Amino acid sequence: MVNKADPDFVGDARRQSEHGIDRRRFLGGLVLGAGAGMLASLGAPRFSHAASTSMRNRIVVTAPTGNIGHQVLHNLLDSDALHSGVSIRVIARDPSRLPTATRGRIEVVQGSHGDSAVVDEAFKDADTVFWLCPADPTAESVMAAYVGFTRPACEAITAHGVRRVVGISALGRGTPMAASAGYVTASLAMDDLIAGTGADFRALTMPSFMDNIARQAKPIRDQGVFFLPIDGDRKLPAVATRDIASVAASLLLDTSWSGRSEVPVLGPEDLSFNEMASIISDVLGKPVRYQQVSFEAYKAGFVQRGMSEAMAQGMTDMARAKNEGLDSAVQRTPASRTATSFRQWCEDELRPVVLR
Ligand SMILES: NC(=O)c1ccc[n+]([C@@H]2O[C@H](COP(=O)([O-])OP(=O)(O)OC[C@H]3O[C@@H](n4cnc5c(N)ncnc54)[C@H](OP(=O)(O)O)[C@@H]3O)[C@@H](O)[C@H]2O)c1
Repeated sequence: MVNKADPDFVGDARRQSEHGIDRRRFLGGLVLGAGAGMLASLGAPRFSHAASTSMRNRIVVTAPTGNIGHQVLHNLLDSDALHSGVSIRVIARDPSRLPTATRGRIEVVQGSHGDSAVVDEAFKDADTVFWLCPADPTAESVMAAYVGFTRPACEAITAHGVRRVVGISALGRGTPMAASAGYVTASLAMDDLIAGTGADFRALTMPSFMDNIARQAKPIRDQGVFFLPIDGDRKLPAVATRDIASVAASLLLDTSWSGRSEVPVLGPEDLSFNEMASIISDVLGKPVRYQQVSFEAYKAGFVQRGMSEAMAQGMTDMARAKNEGLDSAVQRTPASRTATSFRQWCEDELRPVVLR
């Protein structure tokens, strides 16, 4: 039976200084789309970062055990940064989930980065923060999951004079769907909250991650099918988390940028889910097809698996907005194009997971 979203699926959803280009400023009258009201209500930045000019080279990494976060941490440790006086601090709920060799090279603050006391401790003497909000699937609203979770961090950014933030966000600002796109609407409001601290800020804005497809390894393996509520012929950008982590690490280590802007990270090409199915089939050497499911079935699948009504609705609203063009408003440029093709990702990441 393929008439509802598969239980395994939770489809939420180069190193170059060009990523510092201010293509869409948050402040200065060019705020677009959802979240603009929230930013406007914050008024002028509440903290003068000009005062904090002492040399501080501490980068704080949130969600260091997650998909993007662990790769960001790896890239930072793999760089020459530690030898150049940069230190790395992570916030982890369970530090034992960090690789042992890594733990010896970093400072660890234990706890959730949604907790005031934890971020207050973690942001002391920090210059730069990598911010990733792991949306709580049981939250009472998408705004609580993103904006509520991020508020303590913004207070700590202000209190400790953190100068720069690189955040994980989503495409969609300025589109007609931005105000009703569930998780994305809340991500954009979160960005506005961060921008309102006055810290220099780069919000990495992404389409759906290629890595989402790996969450459907089981139906791909067992039934030769994967599911979403999006039109199978609609071409969309998709990006590999390894490329997001690479862009994020470059920005965290690059002290030349300032101001507040979005940095689209778009992958190398637009593909439809039917085209993806054909590539997956090639790479796995067996037929795999894409099955479009109804939005109702998609939402019901999330609720069935324990997601709150509001968060399941947020996932569904986001998928509907993507189906209407949420991710298609930004033109790919050399700066926003990332290296990993969907075929390459399937060879490197999907095949080992499906065929193990
Ligand atoms: N998927 C997409 O297509 C897509 C597209 C655009 C943007 N995004 C955004 O990307 C982000 C997700 O990135 P990801 O896939 O790398 O994340 P992820 O792997 O789901 O993140 C999990 C990380 O967050 C931590 N975490 C989970 N719940 C927490 C909590 N309540 N308090 C503190 N830490 C918690 C986990 O720590 P533990 O080890 O303690 O569990 C782990 O480090 C979201 O903000 C999403 O909106 C996603």
